[in-house]
Amino acid sequence: MAASKTSLSVPLILAISIILIRCAEGRDHLVGGRVGAWKVPSSETESLNKWAESSRFQVGDYLVWEYDGKKDSVLQVTRDAYHSCNTTRPIEEYRNGETKVRLDRSGPFYFISGAEGHCEKGQKLIVVVMAPRRNKQNALASPAPSPAEVEAPAISPTSSATTRKGSMLVVLGVIFLVI
Ligand SMILES: *[C@@H]1O[C@H](CO)[C@@H](O)[C@H](O)[C@H]1NC(C)=O
Repeated sequence: MAASKTSLSVPLILAISIILIRCAEGRDHLVGGRVGAWKVPSSETESLNKWAESSRFQVGDYLVWEYDGKKDSVLQVTRDAYHSCNTTRPIEEYRNGETKVRLDRSGPFYFISGAEGHCEKGQKLIVVVMAPRRNKQNALASPAPSPAEVEAPAISPTSSATTRKGSMLVVLGVIFLVI
């Protein structure tokens, strides 16, 4: 009896550990949800900001771009440069076809295409990273970017964080039950 319980709990604890580690280290978000999505959108509903609206970004997550580095690039820019599609002095420029950017703070991040005329045609992206979840009081008190300011939909900072915290508690509960 004891033996079978042990043999079951080892793989289970391994699996749970992997889940916990993956929760802690931040997720990769493939921009646009698929390879090749970093391009001029064919319609409003295809836009990258539509994709961003349906995702939840947290501090420590990564944005990942897959594109043809010979034809396009990713520029991280200021809010002003985002709106005016000014490609002259980006904060960062990436052009190797496989770009990974760590979202190292909360608030808005602005990206535009470095390819001539693409930003004007809508190849641009705003990602709003939610405030860190550990201190809800501070998160509410700190000046969160208003939706109008970043032109992205309001994001509830609690929903996803609460879900993640909840699932971690359940997982911990399971560990204690098994052991
Ligand atoms: C683009 O940005 C640069 C640097 O911030 C600035 O000097 C330049 O005047 C801007 N160009 C336009 C067209 O706004």
